[in-house]
Amino acid sequence: MTDPTTTTFGAVDAYLQEHLLGGDPVLDAALADSAAAGLPPINVPPTQGKMLYLLTRLQRAVAILEIGTLAGYSTIWMARALPPHGRIVTLESEARHAEVARANLARAGVLDRVDLRVGPALETLAVLADETRAPFDLIFIDADKPRTPEYIEAALRVSRPGALLIVDNVVRSGELANPETTDENVRGMQRAVALLASHPRLEATVIQTVGAKGYDGFALAVVT
Ligand SMILES: C[S@@+](CC[C@H](N)C(=O)[O-])C[C@H]1O[C@@H](n2cnc3c(N)ncnc32)[C@H](O)[C@@H]1O
Repeated sequence: MTDPTTTTFGAVDAYLQEHLLGGDPVLDAALADSAAAGLPPINVPPTQGKMLYLLTRLQRAVAILEIGTLAGYSTIWMARALPPHGRIVTLESEARHAEVARANLARAGVLDRVDLRVGPALETLAVLADETRAPFDLIFIDADKPRTPEYIEAALRVSRPGALLIVDNVVRSGELANPETTDENVRGMQRAVALLASHPRLEATVIQTVGAKGYDGFALAVVT
């Protein structure tokens, strides 16, 4: 039986898509091509994509680091909020995902602002730390969940003071609060929360969310 609460969350997401966000052929095409290519539907929902867009604007971000590209859906949202000289470096381990993302980013007209790097993110992050480039103003972590704490540590090495850190899928249907969990994704997020709480360069919170994709949440942190 369908959980009536989930049905309500989905209905509200559909309502907001229709009455708040409106249609967006480029983003719709990105999701359609992602599905057609057999990629999993694990992109951020549209309302959260818009939140990433707004946070990019509020932060006046010029340099963004994204860990976990998939088909470039969240990348498009953030790239649209960048000034013309802005850049997103986005990291993806799967060559097939990167190929679909590149086509989606080109159709969205933002490919010139995106530096898409294919390979295991921790390796690419080590390369980025050695590059002389402006430190990042905003970091969005949305890749393999067990490695989230390592991504936070690596992101700190390439962030400026005042940078905004966003970590997706922290709450995981409430399993975050289960001390007995054996799920490596949940354990990764429990370690991530502990790191956010204790790191001397971070001030953080976690916000719970509901929607068509169920019950989850994201962390927001500022690099001090
Ligand atoms: C949740 S999806 C990203 C969704 C995307 N941010 C969006 O909202 O449209 C996670 C992505 O991280 C990639 N990924 C998983 N492990 C990775 C790793 N070690 N390094 C880089 N990317 C990785 C996966 O292949 C997948 O495409």
